Amino acid sequence: MKKMLIACNWKMNLTTSESVALVQSIIEGIKNKKISPDILVCPPFTSIDAVSKVLKGTKIFYGAQNCHFESKGAVTGEISIPMLKELGCRYIIIGHSERRTYFFENDELVNKKARAVLASGLIPIICIGESLREREENRTFDVLKRQIEIGLSRIEPEYCVQIVIAYEPVWAIGTGVSAEPEQIQEAHSYIKKELIRVLGKRASSIIVLYGGSVTDENAQSILELKDVHGGLIGGASLKSDIFLSIIETANLVLA
Ligand code: PGA
Repeated sequence: MKKMLIACNWKMNLTTSESVALVQSIIEGIKNKKISPDILVCPPFTSIDAVSKVLKGTKIFYGAQNCHFESKGAVTGEISIPMLKELGCRYIIIGHSERRTYFFENDELVNKKARAVLASGLIPIICIGESLREREENRTFDVLKRQIEIGLSRIEPEYCVQIVIAYEPVWAIGTGVSAEPEQIQEAHSYIKKELIRVLGKRASSIIVLYGGSVTDENAQSILELKDVHGGLIGGASLKSDIFLSIIETANLVLA
C-alpha cells in the first residue's frame, strides 16, 4: 500500500491556547475512525509543548517548522535540535520557501540543517520548489536539481528511510492557485529520479509530499497521483473541518 503523510504547517499562526483548541478538534474529528495516512502537526515553537501534552496517547505526530544546525551556543533567538527533540518532536521542516525568501536560507544552509536533523535521529522535511519566474523561464528542473544536489549532499544513503521531501512550487504557496495535477506528477517523477541519482537506489523509499494551496477541494486529484505521498498543508490546516476533510480524502485514496 502507498505510504502517506498529511503534514500541517501552521506557520506563524495560532497562540498556544488556539493551537491546543485546534489539535483538540482534530483529535475529536478522527476519534473512533480508522485513519490510514500518518498525520503530523507543526505548530509554532511556543505551542509545541502544550500541543504535545494534548497529543499524548494519540497517533498524531508533531514537529517544528525550523531549527538551527548547531546544538547549542550564542545564537540569539534560535532553537536547537536537542531542544526540539526533548519536546518529543519527530519531524522538522527545513528550507521552507518562506525561510529561503525572508531569511535568505540557501541550499548550503538547508544541507547543514538536514544533516544535523538526521544525525539527531529526527526526520527532516526538506522543502524544494521553483519560483514563478523560474517556471516561466523553463528552469524548474534545473532548480529542483540544484536544490537536491546541494541540499542532500554528503548524506549517507542509509538515511534515506528517514528523509521526507516536500515539493512546494513557490508560486502555489498561500496563493490559492495550486499546481495542476500534471505539473505536480511531472515534478515528483523528476524529483524521484534525481533523488535516486544523488543518493542511490535506497532513495526510492523517500516520501515526496506536495505543498501549495492544497484544500479539501483539490486534495483528491493531488493525493491520488502516482508519485505523491501526501501533502504539506498551510492555510487549509488552520481550520479543523477543512483539514479533517483532507484526512478523509487521504483515507479514501488509500482504501
Ligand atoms: P499553503 O502553504 O497550503 O497555505 O499554500 C503550504 C506551505 O507553505 O507549506
